[in-house]
Amino acid sequence: MAEVFATVKDLKAWRRKQDGLRVGIVPTMGALHAGHGTLIEAIRPKVDRVVMTLFVNPKQFGPSEDFDRYPRAFESDVKLAESKGVDTIFAPSLEEIYPEGFSTRVEEQDRSKPLCGIFRPVFFGGITTVVLKLFHLVEPHLAAFGKKDAQQYYVIQKMIEDLHMSVELLPVETVREADGLAMSSRNAYLSAEERERAPRVYRELNHALDRMRAGMGVERALSEAKMELDRHGFKTQYFDLRTVPDLSEARSLEHSRHYLLAVAAYLGATRLIDNLEFEF
Ligand code: PAJ
Repeated sequence: MAEVFATVKDLKAWRRKQDGLRVGIVPTMGALHAGHGTLIEAIRPKVDRVVMTLFVNPKQFGPSEDFDRYPRAFESDVKLAESKGVDTIFAPSLEEIYPEGFSTRVEEQDRSKPLCGIFRPVFFGGITTVVLKLFHLVEPHLAAFGKKDAQQYYVIQKMIEDLHMSVELLPVETVREADGLAMSSRNAYLSAEERERAPRVYRELNHALDRMRAGMGVERALSEAKMELDRHGFKTQYFDLRTVPDLSEARSLEHSRHYLLAVAAYLGATRLIDNLEFEF
């Protein structure tokens, strides 16, 4: 049985008792799926105690975004977390994390600007603010994050560097459905018909990468992939190539460098993101 804490006070009291043990954290917004499960499996053998946090963080949603309708599934989340070996669950209320008068914001100001940062201006500042708070509360040695959210991963990595934090990151590869769709809590918003069309995002990523490897120019491969998605009814926000880990713009490929090919597209009312990371 996992212990479940809802208050900062109880979590801190628990943390003080883990003296000498290696602690790992898996931050989530709940509505857990097999992708989250893989994060737990990856960190479990590397630490003595696994803490999973379940908190839908309002500060990373824009005013017209889906905070209110974001899926919440506390009971089944606890069951899944327990079945994968989580020791401690931290599921605080809004007031616990952001009491009245809360007035601090932590923002990485470089890697957070392109890609999703263009379309979701408050998103990464909200993430770094809450992740820093969770790191301070749990004082983890190791923190698991998924590469499904590659930009989030590199923004948090930069925050850790910039602020001299000693937590280590454990990256976990994107977990996909059998047809290639990246698992996401937001996939629950898709209608049956949209769900059938959604794997096209991953297909276009692979197609664009194949074409660039075969010598097509980066600009052309990106714009054709975007057009292809739009032609199939998606509203593509970006289809972009960036260098890793700094996320600078890349408009040509150099041998043995690492790149992130990343896409965000609406399918109906659902915003899907996906990416491929590769070495050229
Ligand atoms: P959430 O979307 O719940 O994701 C929690 C963690 O699971 C993140 O590290 C995310 O990258 C990872 N994840 C989600 N889907 C995945 C998949 N298909 N494969 C592999 N990993 C996957 O990301 C957040 O929550 C929030 O921004 C958070 C970091 C908790 C801050 O609020």
